[in-house]
Amino acid sequence: MTITTAAGGKTGGGQPGAGWAEQVRRLAAERDAVILAHNYQLPEIQDVADHVGDSLALSRLAAASAARVIVFAGVYFMAETAKILSPGKTVLIPDERAGCSLADSITAAQLREWKAQHPGAAVVAYVNTTAEVKAEADVCCTSSNAVEVVNSIPAGREVLFCPDQFLGAYVRRVTGRPNMLIWAGECHVHAAISGHDLAAQVAAEPDAELFIHPECGCATSALYLAGEGVVPADRVKILSTGGMLTAAAARATRSGTVLVATEIGMLHQLRKAAPGTEFRPVNDRASCRYMKMITPAALLRCLQEGRDEVIVAPSVAERAGAAVRKMISIGHPGGAE
Ligand code: 13P
Ligand code: SF4
Repeated sequence: MTITTAAGGKTGGGQPGAGWAEQVRRLAAERDAVILAHNYQLPEIQDVADHVGDSLALSRLAAASAARVIVFAGVYFMAETAKILSPGKTVLIPDERAGCSLADSITAAQLREWKAQHPGAAVVAYVNTTAEVKAEADVCCTSSNAVEVVNSIPAGREVLFCPDQFLGAYVRRVTGRPNMLIWAGECHVHAAISGHDLAAQVAAEPDAELFIHPECGCATSALYLAGEGVVPADRVKILSTGGMLTAAAARATRSGTVLVATEIGMLHQLRKAAPGTEFRPVNDRASCRYMKMITPAALLRCLQEGRDEVIVAPSVAERAGAAVRKMISIGHPGGAE
């Protein structure tokens, strides 16, 4: 759907003008809105938000907030999850076209067909899925709790894990679970952070620590490098975006280099958390075009016009909510390790 604004454009880019942050904060107060920003958002969006965090932490904050309106500066599935957990609140996203290539890699119809081929299997859906896909799942997971979620399913029961193949491979390796089938989906940004990129960076920076998001194409290579002793195992950390921040805060007073394999928006919070550390992207072109659709102009328009509102059909929200709440009752997010 295309929506144009009185100003003639939906998501005008560029640097925010003088007074933009004050205007955003004033409008948020007038609307009784809390602004939540994902770790991959543009630095100026992160800096103006009330809270910055990973996908699950933000949804939980949305549910716990006393504000009447949630403005979700992130991608659509994240805003949808916030709406599922807070059905009584108004949830707005500054640009509803902010999708996710990973969420697009499985539809509810495809998942129903997969389930029909494996009767009795438990379906674990990553939160990077549409509400309709979550509604078909037994339980959701994030990158920070996927191992705990899969371990919560009785060992003899088959598991259908969707949609991320790299996260799935990581979880299967850590849990050692043979009866876990993995959907062949991927995020185009993380898949492009390859083992080749990682090996080249490690060769150039042999003393660096590694922070690797488990969606990355290089996650298996990182474990291989640790297994072969190329990088000491205690320097290889497979982490969610929230877990990366916790790990950065733990080295707040240290210097040295950390190679970071995830979307480059993450670097802003990491550098704030540990200013003496050099955080270097494994692939400096790893930018999510969907995350970057939330421009300063789009955020301002959202607060001025009260759009785009996120709506989830109640029957879908009820079933998807059960899978999300089941995950929350199992996992304690904070780090993928
Ligand atoms: P986190 O759950 O680690 O924030 O990751 C979300 C995401 O979209 C990764 O690309
Ligand atoms: Fe989706 Fe990948 Fe963008 Fe994350 S980085 S929102 S998984 S497309």
